[in-house]
Amino acid sequence: MEIKGFGVEEWLNENEKTARLDISQSTIKSLTLGELLKFDSQDPTEQITKYLDTKLNYGWIEGSPEFKRLVAELYANVDSQNILQTNGATGGNFLVLFSLLNPGDQIISLYPSYQQLYDIPKSLGVKVDNWDIQEDLDWQPDIEQLKQLISPKTKMICLNNAQNPTGSLLKESLLKQVVTLAREVGAYILADEVYQPVDKVDQFMSVADLYERGISVNSLSKTYSVPGLRIGWVATQSSKLADIFRKYRDYTMISGGVVNDTLACVALRNRREILLRNEKIVKRNHEILRKWVDSQEKVDIIMPEQVSTACIKLNIEMDDETFCRNLLDETGVLLVPGNRFDMPGHARVGYCTDTDTLKKGLEELAGFLKACQ
Ligand SMILES: Cc1ncc(COP(=O)(O)O)c(C=O)c1O
Repeated sequence: MEIKGFGVEEWLNENEKTARLDISQSTIKSLTLGELLKFDSQDPTEQITKYLDTKLNYGWIEGSPEFKRLVAELYANVDSQNILQTNGATGGNFLVLFSLLNPGDQIISLYPSYQQLYDIPKSLGVKVDNWDIQEDLDWQPDIEQLKQLISPKTKMICLNNAQNPTGSLLKESLLKQVVTLAREVGAYILADEVYQPVDKVDQFMSVADLYERGISVNSLSKTYSVPGLRIGWVATQSSKLADIFRKYRDYTMISGGVVNDTLACVALRNRREILLRNEKIVKRNHEILRKWVDSQEKVDIIMPEQVSTACIKLNIEMDDETFCRNLLDETGVLLVPGNRFDMPGHARVGYCTDTDTLKKGLEELAGFLKACQ
């Protein structure tokens, strides 16, 4: 099984621990363990003491009943039995693709987006057609292109909504059209929904709610600020599909870990408060980024939704990878080159880091850009 290197992961693995001003990440400023526990109790130390008796066995294989119930509450039409805990959304995407796709299948994937969604299928011997996001459509794809691509042979449509790295959200009307087209040919829709906008979580349309063959993958890593827990999930209306995932899941993962499950429940129980905290960070930093781009001659942007990733266009002669490498070497500021997402001439800005780091990072970036042709 041949697979292409994962562009963004390889770049971050190489550079994120040495960067001085990291404005590349896609999480809303991560919580500390103490901050997370404080949502449950004024005294985090007391909380920790309570956990000392936790037996470090495998815990609940599919996620604890509380975890599954709390996750099911995020959906209108998904029963808690059809929630399966995974190792982050990364594990969720892998599980769905590995469970449903066979060599020779044909799928359509939003492109560029999260590389897992097209390069895992290719590695499994699947033919992947790209459904392109378009800058001149504010990073939306064109439904007419999907109509051309789809056929009774289409086994699955892969979406990333909201989308990494642009932070754009598929319009509701468009998403509904995708569901109609998929239903006509019986295709599954897998939607990686880790970037739910903080200001629209309640109105957000999950594909698992909209469509009987829809599969939503999500996690606590982005909108909920605890990527270190490595907890995600797969959600579907269909118990038949959930049973297929169960079978394959047994071969790839036992449980998410008893401590992680416990802490994931803390985050889910307190998700309203976490969202309030995060809405403030995202709004504040979104405005800083917007004003900064307005002041820059060599940068354009289609502003993201209230999600933690943004994509700038670099109007410079140097290629984006060399630019980002030189920027890091000379200033310590880390971005992700667009090339790592098959988006040359662009770069990802993880603007939802702490505000001070963002301000300093953008200041250094402005200085560096000035010296560029
Ligand atoms: C679209 C998308 N899905 C999944 C992930 C990984 O999520 P997790 O930490 O839950 O595995 C990322 C991380 O960058 C992402 O951008």
